[in-house]
Amino acid sequence: GTEELIRKLHRDQTLSEEEWIQVIDGRTPKAAEYLFRLARQVRHAYYGRDVYIRGLIEFTNFCRNDCFYCGIRRSNPHVRRYRLTEDEILDCCRQSYGLGMRTFVLQGGEDSFFTNQRLTGLIRQIKAAFPDCALTLSVGERSRASYQAFLDAGADRYLLRHETFNAGHYAKLHPAQMSAAHRQACLFDLKSIGFQTGAGFMVGSPFQETRHLAQDMLFLKHLHPHMVGIGPFIPHRDTPFAGEKAGTLELTLYMLGLLRLMLPDVLLPATTALGSICDNGRELGILAGANVVMPNLSPRCHRKDYSLYNNKLDTGAESAEGLSELARRMEQIGYRIAVHRGDWRPCPDQA
Ligand code: 5AD
Repeated sequence: GTEELIRKLHRDQTLSEEEWIQVIDGRTPKAAEYLFRLARQVRHAYYGRDVYIRGLIEFTNFCRNDCFYCGIRRSNPHVRRYRLTEDEILDCCRQSYGLGMRTFVLQGGEDSFFTNQRLTGLIRQIKAAFPDCALTLSVGERSRASYQAFLDAGADRYLLRHETFNAGHYAKLHPAQMSAAHRQACLFDLKSIGFQTGAGFMVGSPFQETRHLAQDMLFLKHLHPHMVGIGPFIPHRDTPFAGEKAGTLELTLYMLGLLRLMLPDVLLPATTALGSICDNGRELGILAGANVVMPNLSPRCHRKDYSLYNNKLDTGAESAEGLSELARRMEQIGYRIAVHRGDWRPCPDQA
């Protein structure tokens, strides 16, 4: 049954496509509890009860892409577009450094204003001002040469969700100019040139079948990224998917647990989308095996403009100002926020 497959995953850290489908479709509340217990054991062996924090800076909402699910897609005329200046970005870093953040994530749309030269200049400035901090970029698909330039300038990590592995499914979520193959090639480039690399997918996106999730798991096993970001799809009113159903908390938590068993050492965030569909979504994510949270550091005046989906959390425990609320929430479930870079590391007692 399902619990047997979970045991097998725990033992072998791998399953076949058929088995992935079975373990996902065969889930029950009882199997999920069992999964989460094992996932926590694995998480505690690798990362203890530390929760790693990353300060998320949404520095531009201009985007040349037109992904059907995303609120900041190019053809949404209702977005108030903004770009932070270098000084504003450095201010965000400074404020959040004071709050204990030692990783900054520069996330933005694919904005051609931010040329390689502008971005490498920014990276150098941030790394010079905060030498004890890690810098993560999340600025989409670029050439291998630009990724190399970012790394050479001092960036440490890169997030690029693969969104969905299956090419047919990918094509239903994106316009024809984008492809699953190109996105995956970017991820292999990022990893091979030496970034701590993050991939990931949406749970419950339109047209998603269990087999697609199974293929996401097989792809991630093969890529073996340092980080995996997953969250429920949430519709945005100004997109072609406005009327689609959201992904569920329940399936997202289950996928988090499976990811922890498959990739024991992976950095796994309880994402904003998870916190947005349920008040204690992030806590439940931690209890399902996640070990990272990413509070929002963007200036308050722009937060509403970075609306990837409706009702996106941007205050309280989601925000830098609310770090004490986050700390309290984590302590309530027996975890503590770590004030350091929170790098990926292989398990000390790994063979
Ligand atoms: N619902 C949930 N997640 C979304 N993202 C974009 N739009 C949505 C949405 N409507 C996710 C994508 C992207 C990340 C930054 O946000 O997975 O990679």
